Amino acid sequence: MKKFAVFGNPIAHSLSPDIHQMFAESCDQDIQYSRICAGEDTFEDEVRGFFDDPNAVGCNVTVPFKTRAFVMADVKDDAACVARALNTLMKVDGKYFGYNTDGMGLVRDLAALDISLQGKQVSLLGAGGAARGVIMPLLNAGVEKVAIINRTLAKAQALVDEVADTRVQVASPDQAGGQLIINSTSASLHHELPQGVAPTLFTRCEMAYDMVYASQPTSFMKYACEYGAENQADGLGMLVEQAAAAFHIWTGCNPATFDVKERLRARLSQ
Ligand code: ATR
Repeated sequence: MKKFAVFGNPIAHSLSPDIHQMFAESCDQDIQYSRICAGEDTFEDEVRGFFDDPNAVGCNVTVPFKTRAFVMADVKDDAACVARALNTLMKVDGKYFGYNTDGMGLVRDLAALDISLQGKQVSLLGAGGAARGVIMPLLNAGVEKVAIINRTLAKAQALVDEVADTRVQVASPDQAGGQLIINSTSASLHHELPQGVAPTLFTRCEMAYDMVYASQPTSFMKYACEYGAENQADGLGMLVEQAAAAFHIWTGCNPATFDVKERLRARLSQ
């Protein structure tokens, strides 16, 4: 049986095993997918140990190990190189291949939500690892401009300097935002609204997208709705789509995602 795992800490609530089991069923595959709570000092050894099993095919990596996984990989895709972090690993002929499928997950979920990215202006809240992973995929999908808005201005400026693309600039939270406002901050994890967000941000907003998922609309989604955003979504679809991209890398199969999103949404709201 092919073996897979997700490494993180904490990891108990990860939905990845459920998502990949659903994909495997729909693609007629028999897999085992485990959650592994890796230790701060032992992450790399635990990943190597996992791949020592001849049945091990691939693993996902989540918070707080995505940057360390990037360092471990011998070969990295472009998305991982820009993010300097990755969420998907496989080992082929003794070499670790690393991928970052988060940005593709966001782009595919927006497409599934019927949001066109061509020529659009995006305001991206946050300048951490989650933001770093989605900037280039958004631009590559046709977005015209990405305005980075962050509580700590210097961090937003550092990210913009690093990306070094004239389409990516720093903006202030009280300016009118783009057609797509994306929350990549960790505020929703703490049930908070991102500090500094102002109503004017949503003046032209077609979609307010929170990269965090929850059983209820997040504070960001509620605020966006109140101040005029036409649509709001949380990151459950992105989670499923990034997993589908990883599943394809590992197995060559493209699993259907619509039903998986519906089933997880139903389970979350129970
Ligand atoms: P991640 O890898 O998940 O992006 P991170 O690198 O720690 O995590 O970055 C978290 C981001 O969320 C940062 O941009 C942070 O803003 P600061 O740079 O000012 O710290 C942002 N953030 C976290 N909590 C926030 C809050 N309550 N309001 C606004 N921004 C917040």
